[in-house]
Amino acid sequence: MTSTRPLRLLVLCASARTGSVNRALAETASRRLAAAGAEPRLTGPNDYQVPLYDADLQEREGVPHGAERLAGHLREHDGIVIVSPEYNYSMPGSLKNLVDWVSRIKPWPTAGVHGLLMSASPSLVGGHRGLLSLRVPLEGLGMRLHPTMFSLARADRAFDGGDLAEQSERDRLDAVLGDFLAVVEAVTRYPEARAAMAAADA
Ligand SMILES: Cc1cc2nc3c(=O)[nH]c(=O)nc-3n(C[C@H](O)[C@H](O)[C@H](O)COP(=O)(O)O)c2cc1C
Repeated sequence: MTSTRPLRLLVLCASARTGSVNRALAETASRRLAAAGAEPRLTGPNDYQVPLYDADLQEREGVPHGAERLAGHLREHDGIVIVSPEYNYSMPGSLKNLVDWVSRIKPWPTAGVHGLLMSASPSLVGGHRGLLSLRVPLEGLGMRLHPTMFSLARADRAFDGGDLAEQSERDRLDAVLGDFLAVVEAVTRYPEARAAMAAADA
């Protein structure tokens, strides 16, 4: 018998700003993941506070609690959705700093973790270039990133009552989330399904 427990998804929003458009997108995505039967856990930078990376500090005090906390959350979930602003055509320095701290934990907590990248920006490009830069360290650290990413352009005017105003944008988001969930589900359930098939054949 294979497990049908809900898939657990960590949703990490990289902006803690009041009125953050990325937070609005992360909240919408979390609601849509829950509606699809998954269990999202929405977190942000305040859940993973770390100082600027400093090798001497690491030598003296070890990896900070915030980085260990994220590592623990990665282990407890079946996948991660990262929702991040674009800063100067790249990822925010605070997110890269968090990734740098987490990379000091061995084995890498990111290795083999399935991830989906999303962004929101008032610009017409929607923060997509920031996500392209974010792929580089995360893939280097063994994360299995979904090929399709979701970028929301003109995000400052895209929401109405907490949800995406345009049906076409809601459909586009549901399609990406559904596709990602299907991959996470296959990867998560396959070992049990394979064992069940082997037992049935025996
Ligand atoms: C330092 C800085 C650099 C930025 N660079 C970009 C950029 O390269 N591309 C872009 O689309 N928006 C850029 N923006 C605008 C952000 O997309 C905008 O402030 C957005 O609202 C930030 O996301 P948040 O609302 O989730 O905090 C930048 C903002 C800041 C503060």
